[in-house]
Amino acid sequence: MLSVTRRHLVAATASIAATAVLPRLVLAQAPTGPFKRDPLPYAANALEPHIDAKTMEIHPERHHQAYVNNLNNFAKDHPQIGQKPIPEVLAKLSELPDAIRTGVRNNLGGHANHTMFWQIMGPGGGAPSGEVAAAITRDLGGLDKFKTDFDAAGGRVFGSGWVFVTVDRSGKLAIESKPNQDTPLMDGKRVLIGNDVWEHAYYLKYQNRRADYLKAWWNVVNWNKVAERYAAAKAGTLAV
Ligand SMILES: [Fe+2]
Repeated sequence: MLSVTRRHLVAATASIAATAVLPRLVLAQAPTGPFKRDPLPYAANALEPHIDAKTMEIHPERHHQAYVNNLNNFAKDHPQIGQKPIPEVLAKLSELPDAIRTGVRNNLGGHANHTMFWQIMGPGGGAPSGEVAAAITRDLGGLDKFKTDFDAAGGRVFGSGWVFVTVDRSGKLAIESKPNQDTPLMDGKRVLIGNDVWEHAYYLKYQNRRADYLKAWWNVVNWNKVAERYAAAKAGTLAV
């Protein structure tokens, strides 16, 4: 009798435990929907020592993923945000319902910015060549002046934001900074490159030394990918 009672007790306890665990498992699952975060095209430690591996785990997997999860939640009631190209939605935020306009601005901006950001980095560094190098000389005063001006613009962002180089259909370049997760895509422009100056991008290794991070970042720019983006911008096929 005792053993039967015990068996029942064990079974009942296991059942209660399973029930208690289940809602947590369900909650831990990311919402599914039209928005997805691509895996990094390199290992998380590939950008060491300039960007530390821990940052390259947390930054995509938690910060970027949170934007994607929020977008998929918005898309449940507002599927239209997942049915058009991202630049088109961002360029027409005013057409969105009040209830999601700010949320889409922050989270779709964040998704677009980070998707671009992972893509234009990689191990190895190097220097621009070909058409991109020529455009930097023509429009931004040469590589050294460009880096100085870009880093200065990134340093002037108060709080969180981004510094970008925009590119138009003729291939003309310009430096532009934005607060929060705003992007030049919201003005109908295209982005060639951008650097994330939110503290989450550099705080573990650089703490408050944003200028050191900005300077070190040039060591991990994938100029081959930048050249591809430049060609795509001129062809009108550059997405985010
Ligand atoms: Fe970020």
